[in-house]
Amino acid sequence: MRTHYCGELNKDNIGQTVEICGWVNRRRDHGGVIFLDMRDKRGIAQVVINPDNADFILAESIRNEFVLKITGQVIARGEGLVNPKLATGEIEIVANNIEILNASKPVPFQIDSTDTSEEVRLKYRYLDLRRDEMQQRLRLRSKVTHFMREFMDSNDFLDIETPFLTKATPEGARDYLVPSRTHPGDFFALPQSPQLFKQLLMMSGFERYYQIVKCFRDEDLRADRQPEFTQLDVETSFMDENEIMAMMEEMTRGMFKSVINVDLPNEFPTITYADAMSLYGVDRPDMRIPMQITDMDKLMQSVDFKVFSGPANDAKSRVAALKVPGGATISRKNIDKYTKYVSIYGAKGLAYIKLNEDGPASPILKFLGDEVTAKVIEMTGAQTGDIIFFGADKTKIVNEALGNLREQLAKDLDLFESEWAPIWVVDFPMFDVEDDGSLNAIHHPFTAPSVDANTLETTADSALSRAYDLVINGSEVGGGSIRIHQVEIQQTVLKLLGISDDEAQDKFGFLLDALEYGCPPHGGMAFGLDRLVMIMTGADSIREVIAFPKTQTAACLLTAAPAGVPRKVLRELSVKVSLPEKD
Ligand code: AMO
Ligand code: AMP
Repeated sequence: MRTHYCGELNKDNIGQTVEICGWVNRRRDHGGVIFLDMRDKRGIAQVVINPDNADFILAESIRNEFVLKITGQVIARGEGLVNPKLATGEIEIVANNIEILNASKPVPFQIDSTDTSEEVRLKYRYLDLRRDEMQQRLRLRSKVTHFMREFMDSNDFLDIETPFLTKATPEGARDYLVPSRTHPGDFFALPQSPQLFKQLLMMSGFERYYQIVKCFRDEDLRADRQPEFTQLDVETSFMDENEIMAMMEEMTRGMFKSVINVDLPNEFPTITYADAMSLYGVDRPDMRIPMQITDMDKLMQSVDFKVFSGPANDAKSRVAALKVPGGATISRKNIDKYTKYVSIYGAKGLAYIKLNEDGPASPILKFLGDEVTAKVIEMTGAQTGDIIFFGADKTKIVNEALGNLREQLAKDLDLFESEWAPIWVVDFPMFDVEDDGSLNAIHHPFTAPSVDANTLETTADSALSRAYDLVINGSEVGGGSIRIHQVEIQQTVLKLLGISDDEAQDKFGFLLDALEYGCPPHGGMAFGLDRLVMIMTGADSIREVIAFPKTQTAACLLTAAPAGVPRKVLRELSVKVSLPEKD
């Protein structure tokens, strides 16, 4: 239907007769002359309709978002009328013939406006996706998956599909369940990841597998989490963690270069989980921020300030300091704001010392004394003009409070030192220990420990795993591990997790069986595609890089899903719905 795309017309087309198709981005009536900004997937071009045009009456009926086919002649814009902001700003098209391919009702929001509420945008997502910003993001997403496929294919990985209707695959979230009509009372689970299937594919001898695949997790949603999201999922046999990490790093570097022309470092740095927690308070440190947390346990053990000495003397607690360069200018009001901010993480206060021109100033100086204060300044390397914040509480609370405060302060005070900072986090503990002593897998229950089965049993609390996460700019964009390939170790891990033999057979019997028929050593990784694209586009939520995302309450405003179903359908599925009484 067309000879050219609107967005591609330029000086070289002057004098040509062209046919373009697209949407009316804006219609402007300039007393006798009508201007149409015509938009297609490549961009916008200006069309002029003069009063002597046979279609002028028709043109008067045209409104924004009508779909048109226009035949016209490309001419140079007059002196002073060039629009340098528009790629096609040097030309315009004088219409000869206008065909209305379809009309449009008045749209609920102006397509190119940027202040439409997210609710409206999601309800009319097909209109929202017409916006240039959304088109660019999805285009970039497609370039990312294209690059991934090329890289994986050229490294001899095979793209193999795994089932969606399956059994629970534990990754730490709740399952989405699908009732079975043919097996009344039984349910499929949608996979939280293809984890078990990709391991089985290694046992089947494929050696290198990948898939760009949907995963389903019913968990509390945040800006970087969706109930269904996409992974680049990878598994290999006969490669150790260093080999896998090196290959995945090469892919990541190539992808950033090819898609957004960013040179990531030649070798990504590595940090242990323990150091990440101690120095940055989180297991996904944002290395663009030069600030570190300084441990103060030893120094504060004998101070005359219970708020500090208590946690300093308790093995499960910690006192730590965060020096903020130039932070002495933070007002009292803003310190109160940050105190409130850290209280979200359970912190009971936010002690501080300001280093003013005339020396240290703080409500807690009198408790600490000159000597300890001097030591704090020395240990944090603080200088005049800085502020030092303190956290004193259970280690988890202090880490979360100071770790998140560090990131918030970096945003507020623009303390980022670089634009891109990837880092591998390694040496994760195998297990998270609950207050009652029970254990949870930190990665997933198929991750290999870095010790043998006997040692694991006696030192489960402190044992490390062979897992690794890739963090870019403070976002966990991928994670993986070497897997357990020996049935005894797998059984030990399941036992330590409190899963009985019967339950293990019931849930993962097929995996335990398969481990006994010649399972190769194997490992792999999965990237969160949505998160990667989010940081590559600079979007502030993964909803911005997914064509049809769910809201924070896991609903689709466009289709109004989830929705009720007729009783007849439920009966066929042997499902009875019983809602809790409303108060
Ligand atoms: P994991 O659970 O760490 O590992 O997931 C891998 C990556 O997927 C992304 N991700 C998410 N993205 C959006 N919304 C979510 N709800 C969500 N949950 C996770 C993250 C994360 O790093 N089977 C293992 C991988 C392996 O061991 O090979 C797994 O799924 O970016
Ligand atoms: P208080 O003695 O409770 O008035 O606290 C003195 C200072 O210590 C105030 O600046 C509080 O914000 C701070 N503070 C109190 N509890 C904690 C804590 N657990 N961690 C860090 N600072 C605290």
